[in-house]
Amino acid sequence: MDKRLSITDLKGMKKRGERIPMFTAYDYPTARLVEQAGIPLILVGDTLGMVVLGYETTVPVTMDEMLHHIKAVVRGTRRAHVIADMPFMSYQAGSSDALANAGRMLKEGGAQSVKLEGGVRVAETVRLIVDAGIPVMGHIGLTPQSVNQLGGYKVQGKTPAAAVKLLNDAIALEQAGAYAIVLECVPAQLSQAITDRLNIPTIGIGAGPHCDGQVQVFHDLLGLFMDFLPKHARRYATVGDTIVEAVRAYANDVVEGRFPTADESFLVGKTVLSEVTPHA
Ligand code: KIV
Repeated sequence: MDKRLSITDLKGMKKRGERIPMFTAYDYPTARLVEQAGIPLILVGDTLGMVVLGYETTVPVTMDEMLHHIKAVVRGTRRAHVIADMPFMSYQAGSSDALANAGRMLKEGGAQSVKLEGGVRVAETVRLIVDAGIPVMGHIGLTPQSVNQLGGYKVQGKTPAAAVKLLNDAIALEQAGAYAIVLECVPAQLSQAITDRLNIPTIGIGAGPHCDGQVQVFHDLLGLFMDFLPKHARRYATVGDTIVEAVRAYANDVVEGRFPTADESFLVGKTVLSEVTPHA
């Protein structure tokens, strides 16, 4: 049986200075492709609410929606470490809720760890979940579940007080037992200072080149959303264009009678045919 990447393997990667590529996936076929491409750390992010389910923000995403997709990603992978994102209000309302929901991600979803947003504010919850044997990845900086409080998707840590708060958040998460921390939309020099200060890996998204790893959203890098590309993302392919071209070609072939051909059809012999067509 294949062994999935563990949090101990990840700590070793930080120690050896190996950069860690992390990517999102939300379903069985893309999880298979992402693992085949060599990604060791796959996040089933609550971004699925926006890029797969068509919500405006990640706020409406539910536990059931997350579990549905996590199970598919786990079925599509054998070696990758699958991280289950805890959706909004699955851990904020109380620690026993948080623990029960984190447990569902591993027991029902089959994920290897969970991720939740917040620093000092959630440190006690992180400690509780870790103590139950569930590895936790932190997420600080721009925390999209708090978009209504933050007033938009903005770069964080831009004042001296905000920078100190971010560092304190990171330290609190490490002390609470988090095995890694996502830094989202954090100035590069600040991410470097945080990364140098921690023993656990930092994974950046819009946080510059000095983090131990980088995470990006599948649909951004593959060009499945053509109308908008965040500043921190790079488009590696235009799969959306390829899909439109292919589906248009199929539709034209149907309309023009070029699809299907005899080769793409199933045939029966004359005896069968004579039963249904009197003159055959
Ligand atoms: O939900 C998500 O995809 C994330 C990444 C952007 C880090 O949290």
